[in-house]
Amino acid sequence: MMKLDVGFVRSQFPAFDHSPAKDWAFFENAGGSYVCRQVADRLEAFMTEYKAQPYGPSWMATKAGEAMDSGYETIAGLLGTRRENLTLGPSTTANLYVLAHALRPGLAAGDEIVVTNQDHEANIGCWRRLEEFGVVIREWRVDETGELHVGDLEKLVGARTRVVCFSLSSNIVGTQNPVAEIVRVSKKHGALVVGDAVSFAPHWLPEVEASGLDFFLFSTYKTFATHLGVMWGSDEGLAKTKAQGHYFNENKPNYRLNPTGPLHAEIAALAGVTAYVDEIYGYHFSESEGSLRRRTEAVFGLIKEHEIDLTRRLLEKLEDVPGLRVVGSGTESMETRSSVVSMRCARIAPAQLARHLAGREIAVGAGHFYAVRLLEALGIDPERGVLRVSMVHYNTLEEIERLAEALVDIVAG
Ligand SMILES: Cc1ncc(COP(=O)(O)O)c(C=O)c1O
Repeated sequence: MMKLDVGFVRSQFPAFDHSPAKDWAFFENAGGSYVCRQVADRLEAFMTEYKAQPYGPSWMATKAGEAMDSGYETIAGLLGTRRENLTLGPSTTANLYVLAHALRPGLAAGDEIVVTNQDHEANIGCWRRLEEFGVVIREWRVDETGELHVGDLEKLVGARTRVVCFSLSSNIVGTQNPVAEIVRVSKKHGALVVGDAVSFAPHWLPEVEASGLDFFLFSTYKTFATHLGVMWGSDEGLAKTKAQGHYFNENKPNYRLNPTGPLHAEIAALAGVTAYVDEIYGYHFSESEGSLRRRTEAVFGLIKEHEIDLTRRLLEKLEDVPGLRVVGSGTESMETRSSVVSMRCARIAPAQLARHLAGREIAVGAGHFYAVRLLEALGIDPERGVLRVSMVHYNTLEEIERLAEALVDIVAG
């Protein structure tokens, strides 16, 4: 079976060419991934060659407009959707905040919204704020391992449920939630379904229109590109929103849910993601495949296999580290797990562990990662938090060995 050539992948990321970054094992990808060369090149070109107000008659403005258009088209192509259904805002937190306000005028006092206690706060707090307007919040709660069960959602959803919000994948426990089942249960009573895919998208990009979701959001600074939030809306979902931008942009797709206005250079650089996918595709597959969507699926298929290998190796290695406990599921659910592994050590605080690892040129995260409610539900003090190792497809099995050895050493010492 064909395997992802990680050496080739790494050659596409300038960070691996530069000291001192190239000597580090980088496992803080859920906080923001490295940027691929194709994106960095486009950003530089925009900034240095045609940084002008886009869509004007000058060469620079025309070029800037074309570059922005290709950024929108890239995201539409990757998700298998149309540009009109996209909002490219500054971040997912901002997009969700705007979305909650955009749906609010259509909600009456007593209408219900389901939020989880597994999500990043970005997909919880903005909905809870609607309580001020009489909206009733129902909380879909995790079990003692941090997992959500659709049976529990079934008990919460009823005739007054208008919106169900969840994450496709937890940014702490790494579990992927069953989208189709969640959609099925939520739609029984016609609720809109909002899926936060920020910690899912670096590992797999679904075809959004077939997903049954109404809103699908992710952040491109975690998918090898510039710092933006992508929000896709279904036609039905968008029809229920009130525009939040300037009044004269009320009917303008891409603008009506983006009160901040588009970030020109950052959007233009997104076209580099397609170029990156194509570079990986062309290197691994000989047959030419017409649609970007199909090429993306082929590339993500390779990525998935590699990430499963990385995650399995790490989970197995962690079993040999006395005193360390993984938060969430282990190797039994590899197919439905993202390559995010959080852990705790009774003796050493996560921040201290992260500092020790940094001393060995290994970068990991420590803290609550804005999933405060999840940590509280698991009986973990959010101030202390967890140690999080988040891997993407440019990580290597050698890096995992290095991390595991370092952990054994530090925890034992
Ligand atoms: C699962 C998840 N949702 C939402 C967010 C917020 O994304 P942004 O930083 O683009 O606002 C994050 C950020 O880390 C996240 O991990």
